[in-house]
Amino acid sequence: MRPGSRRIGRSSRSGIRARLAGGPGRVAAEALTEAPVAPGRVPLAGHAPWIHRDALRFVRELRHHGPMTKIYIGPRQVHVVNSHALVRELLTAQARAFDKGAMFDALRVPLGDGLITAAGERHLRQRRLMQPAFRHDRIAGYARIMSERSLARAVVWEPGTTLDLVPEINRLTLDILLRTLFADPQDPELRTAVKDWLTVKYHSMRLALSPLHAWSERLPLLPGWRPPHAGPLRRLIAVQHRIIDTYRAEGRDRGDLLSMLLATGGPDGALTDAEVTDELITLFLAGTGTVSASLAWALHEISRRPAVQRRIHDELDTVLAGRPPGYEDLPALVHTRQVLTEVLRLHPPSWLLMRRAVRPVTLGGVRLSPGAEVFFSPYALHLDPQLYENPDDFDPERWSHDGAAKAPRHTYLPFGAGSRLCIGEDFAWTELTLALAAFLAHRRLTPADSTPVRTLVGTVLRPAQLPLTAHARRS
Ligand code: HEM
Repeated sequence: MRPGSRRIGRSSRSGIRARLAGGPGRVAAEALTEAPVAPGRVPLAGHAPWIHRDALRFVRELRHHGPMTKIYIGPRQVHVVNSHALVRELLTAQARAFDKGAMFDALRVPLGDGLITAAGERHLRQRRLMQPAFRHDRIAGYARIMSERSLARAVVWEPGTTLDLVPEINRLTLDILLRTLFADPQDPELRTAVKDWLTVKYHSMRLALSPLHAWSERLPLLPGWRPPHAGPLRRLIAVQHRIIDTYRAEGRDRGDLLSMLLATGGPDGALTDAEVTDELITLFLAGTGTVSASLAWALHEISRRPAVQRRIHDELDTVLAGRPPGYEDLPALVHTRQVLTEVLRLHPPSWLLMRRAVRPVTLGGVRLSPGAEVFFSPYALHLDPQLYENPDDFDPERWSHDGAAKAPRHTYLPFGAGSRLCIGEDFAWTELTLALAAFLAHRRLTPADSTPVRTLVGTVLRPAQLPLTAHARRS
């Protein structure tokens, strides 16, 4: 640890902001340098074998080689930003010099050009048009659905039985998202169309990290990536257009997210039907896997820590006193939120994020040409011992002074930062807190066995399975 630096831990929780101004990434007077190539580059494959062997360890160890390192995915050169100060610069001061990069090119095929993939002025316009759908008063409305659906799921979990929570949670988060997007999700074709579309594997992260794919872009004779079967996407778009037609014909606010997307207007114009379908599809993808993974990790950590679980139970008993959890309870569920904050530090679903320079730009003294790919890893930053004391420990107490809502931006990045900050962040905190409260208000959870949970490293970091046993708390 550098002399004078302070980390987020039990003993020094508040010094992080002071470090944001400097840090190891700061390069004096913009002397132009080359980022060093990370050791272990293999002919043809580059660093891909290490990434495939243990991607989390690979990104975590890059910081030992400097604030910015070059790695190779096959022939493709990527600059990885390892310093939080440079990540801050990338996401804020220099944000306009970058679009989203390789993974998002692959995502544009199934997602269209919704908020997550759009770039430049188009992104800013869409962001302004989408923002009202995520206002606090709207989220307060969605909160009722989140609480009701989670409670309904929790109470049918028979005490004494064991379930793999991964598919259960996937069903729950999809159900919640459908009911918040569409006030009437019982449309006979909608659920099937969304489920069929979600089961098509798009493998965007795998493509971004594939040396074969990188070579096939340069050598057209190699068998390249073929877009997945377009049938499910076409069917989903058709169902959505039919629903949009009904909404437009009625012209009333149903309290759901779709009503807000259709009510856009003003200096930016309104979202067209095609844009609305792209945004809905983007939300299906962005708002399900990430929330499912976070809730699963939360239940995983809590079920293994009786003291942490007891403290949440005590808080729920005091705050809710037997009532279902609601939006108005969120400020009082302080410890529950601290636990979730720590879960998202240790297991950030979006573990690797990407950008691509759209014009010449200098970052940390390194000159990047248009087209240069840049990666940064919220996971690696969250486990950096210079930023967090005992980073591998699950310790919700480290958030007890700063307060979870004030978790420092740019060192705490589960939702990204800057102009591309997750638009669903408040939605996600609300859903996670209410779902966790609903499950734990009625059940005590223990791991079904002592087998370590396997982590799946894809576009999202998630547990492969989560077998838990439920126990009754009150009759
Ligand atoms: C725990 C849950 C979630 C996590 C960890 C998460 C994480 C993120 C991250 C890291 C980004 C920024 C990506 C980047 O900078 O490249 C992002 C963007 C985004 N997220 Fe989330 N997200 C979550 C939940 C949600 C939910 C519930 C929704 C919607 C219902 C959502 C919608 C979006 C959208 C539309 C963007 C693109 C924003 C833009 O580029 O302007 N997310 N999310």
